[in-house]
Amino acid sequence: MTSAADLLEIATRIAREAGELAHRRRREGVTVAATKSAAADIVTAADREVEAFIRAELARERPDDGFFGEESGAEEGTSGITWVVDPIDGTVNYAYGIPAWAVSIAAVEGTAETAAWTALAGAVFNPVTGELFRASRGGGAWLGDQRLAVSEVGPAGGLVATGFGYNPETHGPALAQLARVMPIARDVRRIGAASLDLASVAAGRVDAYYERGTQPWDHAAGALLVAEAGGAVGGAPGGRPGNGMVIAAGPDFYSRLEPLLDYER
Ligand code: IPD
Ligand code: CA
Repeated sequence: MTSAADLLEIATRIAREAGELAHRRRREGVTVAATKSAAADIVTAADREVEAFIRAELARERPDDGFFGEESGAEEGTSGITWVVDPIDGTVNYAYGIPAWAVSIAAVEGTAETAAWTALAGAVFNPVTGELFRASRGGGAWLGDQRLAVSEVGPAGGLVATGFGYNPETHGPALAQLARVMPIARDVRRIGAASLDLASVAAGRVDAYYERGTQPWDHAAGALLVAEAGGAVGGAPGGRPGNGMVIAAGPDFYSRLEPLLDYER
């Protein structure tokens, strides 16, 4: 049986190489290849090329594992391990040249259903800053040789990260929800990449993150980072992170934030 540490080694190597490829393509110029769920939901040629690279590397190293990627879909494996991949999380930042985008790779046990899987290893790599956040189940969350720990929130309130997604119909309700959160927030950040929001919670750079409407590849690796950094991570009350909601924070602040949010049941 492969250990979580072995899976993490593979995830970090491939995330680093994939990120360097994406960064090279960024410097050569970005081409928007298509739009997806909404006009603002773009895919670049680099998203596709980088996912193809990751998929080929995983197929070579781990031919029996499943794959579930944002750009090229899912394929079941026979080993019980599935790789959940976002080749570029924060594609709009990538297209605009804002240095907050990342490659996110997670290895999970079980099927590619967030409700059913257990994450074993996760890597989130921002090639612009060179930061590679990594975690393995039971092995802690790390940035370089620094072990990560979620923050404790003081009297000024929590620094809260969130996102608004691409569907314009959700923006009104999302803003109303944010208004309910403001009384416990010292300020708000909209970083533009869910994987980096979650890595930031793990690193104590923000105190909390919540968002509705994200996909499994946006949060698979990041949720493990938060859990391994001592944080609480969930979705609808008592549930797993999912499309309806992702919430991540230190346990105390989590219990203050959770009742203020709306949930899709
Ligand atoms: C998006 C980013 C963004 C979040 C969206 C995601 P993408 O991922 O993580 O912060 O608000 O919901 O879809 O499309 O750039 O991979
Ligand atoms: Ca993406």
